[in-house]
Amino acid sequence: MSGQKPLFKRVAIIGLGLIGGSLASAIRRHGLAGSVVGADKRPDELALGEELGIIDEAAASIEEAVTGSDLVVLAVPVRATRSVLEEIRPWLGADTVLTDVGSTKSSFVSDVEAVFGALSPKVIPGHPIAGSEKSGIRAANPELFAKHKVILTPGDNAGEPDVARLKALWEGCGATVLTMSVAYHDEVLAATSHLPHLIAFSLVDTLAGEDENMDIFRYAAGGFRDFTRIAASDPVMWHDIFLSNRDAVLRVIDHFTHDLDQLRTAIAQQDSATLLRVFSRAKAAREHFSKMLSGQAYVTHNTEKPVTFRLQPGSAISGDIRVPGDKSMSHRSIMLGALADGITEVKGFLEGEDSLATLQAFRDMGVTIEGPDDGFVRIHGVGIKGLQAPRGPLYLGNSGTAMRLFAGLLAAQPFDSELTGDASLSKRPMGRVADPLRAMGAVIDTAEGGRPPLKIRGGQHLTGIHYEMPVASAQVKSCLLLAGLYADGSTSVTEPAPTRDHTERMLAGFGYHVHRDGATASVSGGGTLTATNIDVPADISSAAFFLVAASIAPGSDLILRHVGMNPTRVGVINILRQMGANIEVLDEREIGGEPVADLRVRSANLKGIDIPEDQVPLAIDEFPVLFIAAACASGRTVLRGAEELRVKESDRIQVMADGLAALGVESEVTPDGIIIEGGQAIGGGTVSSHGDHRIAMSFAVASLRAAGEIEVKDCANVATSFPGFVELARNTGINISAEGAE
Ligand code: S3P
Repeated sequence: MSGQKPLFKRVAIIGLGLIGGSLASAIRRHGLAGSVVGADKRPDELALGEELGIIDEAAASIEEAVTGSDLVVLAVPVRATRSVLEEIRPWLGADTVLTDVGSTKSSFVSDVEAVFGALSPKVIPGHPIAGSEKSGIRAANPELFAKHKVILTPGDNAGEPDVARLKALWEGCGATVLTMSVAYHDEVLAATSHLPHLIAFSLVDTLAGEDENMDIFRYAAGGFRDFTRIAASDPVMWHDIFLSNRDAVLRVIDHFTHDLDQLRTAIAQQDSATLLRVFSRAKAAREHFSKMLSGQAYVTHNTEKPVTFRLQPGSAISGDIRVPGDKSMSHRSIMLGALADGITEVKGFLEGEDSLATLQAFRDMGVTIEGPDDGFVRIHGVGIKGLQAPRGPLYLGNSGTAMRLFAGLLAAQPFDSELTGDASLSKRPMGRVADPLRAMGAVIDTAEGGRPPLKIRGGQHLTGIHYEMPVASAQVKSCLLLAGLYADGSTSVTEPAPTRDHTERMLAGFGYHVHRDGATASVSGGGTLTATNIDVPADISSAAFFLVAASIAPGSDLILRHVGMNPTRVGVINILRQMGANIEVLDEREIGGEPVADLRVRSANLKGIDIPEDQVPLAIDEFPVLFIAAACASGRTVLRGAEELRVKESDRIQVMADGLAALGVESEVTPDGIIIEGGQAIGGGTVSSHGDHRIAMSFAVASLRAAGEIEVKDCANVATSFPGFVELARNTGINISAEGAE
């Protein structure tokens, strides 16, 4: 016993099978109740329960078990529920909480209603998502629920304190508790548990039935074993479950049968595109699921598993490295490749969560995409009008770029769509794209304040507009140009300052003419895209961390290979050079319409500068790490005209100022920038990145000049743009370790 205060005085467990027995022993082990009494119709099981120390007391009758208990747990087979409810009814106290552990919840509720007349507030249906193909009290395991989910489906009238107490009981057993409605529970379980069991039973039966000696099993390998493990589950229990959850199960069987039939047709007709599409979509979904299970982040909520960077003060860095592919180009390569006619091959694709979310979203819209495999992706384009309606909302993780560009593309599709994202993305302004899209004829709903989710109505007729962008944003420009591909007439966008032009360049690479007239880019709708091959250079925004790191750490000498040098992206190099950085640009070349070079950077004595405002859009993502450079420079650095930084993955001005302050570096925050007095000593301390990947990596760089250990919290999102950052940083000489990362 752990010695904590019991949550219930006396718990009666009716039915000492695997689940009832495991719950009894978990409650006892963790001291969650004063005593646990068991009741079971099978005298042997009951005696065994007492003998094995699973229960405190074996009740001779239901009356004895229920009377005086403040929690009664029904752990009997689902089909026995109603008769057991009849038996306990006369003895149930008015204040006694009643719950169950059955796999179907509508049937439990209707049994309760049949026996008690109504669902009393004291009845809280439950379902632990844990089990084993073993059954019976001998298999009882007090750790069965640890790290498993338990679903409670309280009615609207359920008493809050009772729900809280029951939740605490399950949490005390190590489980994570979710609450949802009865109907939703049954739909979800029909799909994720009941159908797979049915298929496993059916498959094994089919194969075994064909072969009297069951010889076939001799040849069956690991795949068969893994896939059919659950066919060894308790037949009676599963028989009960299917009959109790009949409606939801029938719906999901019909859905599955339809999809299986489609695969059958595809095989019969040698339709390899359909097979590849379904298999690669399923593979990606399975990989996503494995990552969820192992706590990794891709397309799940990163905050589920906190990652902390721990950094020891460093000295020189060196090496010859290539950082991952450009994020902006990776997104666009998938989008345009998907809409093109023919097959597009991409090299150097960024396998970060943001671009993977884009890739997955196109799979969800019926595009076959092979890979990514070490940066190689093959996209089977479906043509500009070939996207299919996704089955549910498209989840875009942390990626503002994806959401804004998708908004343009989807506004013109014949189907409805919904775009969602993580907590950070859900706070970011989308009115900047929704408003001009509406002016083109799109129908888009946003949450309050123009925030995600975006609900986009399909089947709208778009008309080209001319748009003068109030802010210099490549995302807004790209969104409108993509919508313009589908609009009547010409769509033109004028930018107040140059922003990255990857969309324009890549459209041209796919054979779509983009007209450029000074600050205005325009497209005419109605054309097509032709597949091409794309070589994505290393992301200058990721290289930036190492440009600053090598500049500030005395004695450093580092080579960065194959860095994208698009003139609309090189602000960080211009600014650092103006601060006195020693950056050599080597072997400049053009690859697939984008300039690329190798960079050699050696340490230098940086000096503070007034950052020219025209460089702001050209270095927009690099400011967090430039602030670290400014802190290490001599003299004052002033940034103005950068209010956009406040609506990035975090408020990058305030969050950086707070982080610097935590390390003893004072700065002055202004509405549109920051003033940093260089040369202040950087101390050790704890910094929160607020889930912003670039903030996390910037403070990792700061460690090179710090006097003590720096701890950076909330770093899981580094995987959105820079998978492998920790390892690469360590290879160059940064003393970094990540806690909580896989
Ligand atoms: C991006 C544009 C920029 C940038 C973002 C990527 C793009 O955003 O900050 O990381 O790929 O178009 P804004 O267009 O909002 O400035």
